[in-house]
Amino acid sequence: RPVPVVAIDGPSASGKGTVAARVAEALGYHCLDSGSLYRLVALAAMRAGVSFDDEPGLARLAATLPARFAEGRVFLGEEDVTDAIRTEEASVGASKVAVLAEVRAALLDRQREYRHAPGLVAEGRDMGSVVFPDAGTKIFLTATAQARATRRYKQLIEKGMAANMKSLLKDLQDRDARDAARPVAPLQKLPDAALLDTTEMDVEQAVGFVLDRVRS
Ligand code: C5P
Repeated sequence: RPVPVVAIDGPSASGKGTVAARVAEALGYHCLDSGSLYRLVALAAMRAGVSFDDEPGLARLAATLPARFAEGRVFLGEEDVTDAIRTEEASVGASKVAVLAEVRAALLDRQREYRHAPGLVAEGRDMGSVVFPDAGTKIFLTATAQARATRRYKQLIEKGMAANMKSLLKDLQDRDARDAARPVAPLQKLPDAALLDTTEMDVEQAVGFVLDRVRS
């Protein structure tokens, strides 16, 4: 029997990372944050001086990326880059390298390697469509752009960082547009995915919704 997969796809800042981690914990499954791989490629490219339109160069970086995940931290080689991949620059870079077919192809097998017993919760944009099309549970997790921008705003303020609601909203909308409009692996709600709109929900309720789906 194939190892079960729970695929959670959705737009930026929808809270899918938090929900996926909590669902994985509840089920005792492994968890894959696929967006961090695209973020790592962008970071590695910025450091190596590889341009975001050099597709073969970026694909080579993606294929040889010394990515490692341990105890909730993300490493590039020996370096802890958990915060470095979350900067606005790395976020924009990630959504730019993610439009390139060769980069996506280079990351495909690497993502599938996370499928280990007893199961995997994978979150991103194309988990249910491309990487794990046979996933037993598929969720499209979303919220209005306004709600997502507000959550991101609160997070930044809580961390004592500067935040501007108007530019946060615009960045989100630009990234959503790039993710949805690209020809390769666009962000989409699949017909066989359950729609989970968290605009009016807290994390607890969203986690409960996914667990109900997995168990039914
Ligand atoms: O989910 P996260 O915001 O960390 O993803 C960063 C970027 O990586 C997204 O804006 C998207 O362009 C890209 N991505 C993707 N496919 C995935 C996960 C992320 O194209 N499965």
